[in-house]
Amino acid sequence: MLNTEPEIEVLISENEIGRHVGEIAARVDAAYAGSADVVGLVLLEGARPFAHDLAAAMQVPLELQMLKVSSYEGTSSTGCVEILGEISDSIRGRDVLVIDDIYDTGRTLAKLLEAVGEFGPRSVRTCVLLEKRHEHQVPVTLDFVGPLVPNVFVVGYGLDYEQDYRELPYVGKLNVI
Ligand code: IMP
Ligand code: MG
Repeated sequence: MLNTEPEIEVLISENEIGRHVGEIAARVDAAYAGSADVVGLVLLEGARPFAHDLAAAMQVPLELQMLKVSSYEGTSSTGCVEILGEISDSIRGRDVLVIDDIYDTGRTLAKLLEAVGEFGPRSVRTCVLLEKRHEHQVPVTLDFVGPLVPNVFVVGYGLDYEQDYRELPYVGKLNVI
């Protein structure tokens, strides 16, 4: 915890998040129309609320598989992405949608795409709620993405600062002084 209560400036309200998730769900539905075999690989912890709301908003059935990954300490990426959980063999031959909360350096998604590819899925796509507005160190193709956010540290709707603020219903900028 921080000694002084930090200020959080709302960047994307709860209503706006709902609208973005609905729009992304419609695009994902259109891309997978006719497929009944889509597996959402959800990068924990941050992408959990997004993945649940996305699955609820979609028409196409989306099986969610949770995968714990870690790369952040405080407000900066450690540069080293760890896959802490195990990717299930059950994704072989299926349409895999890698779901994350935010595209920052790109290291997490790049590492996951490589790892998922080794399991022989039928297809792999990426779905990310937010994209930071800056040059990504490791460029990754985002098949489905929501709004850009400024290149600042954001929290809420799954995103945390040292495990705090995940439960906020909106996305805000954390002003750490
Ligand atoms: P990347 O590997 O640098 O693209 O970072 C992706 C991961 O870092 C995301 O899945 C988030 O968990 C975390 N992350 C990146 N930026 C932020 C942020 O502003 N707030 C909270 N977590 C972040
Ligand atoms: Mg993450």
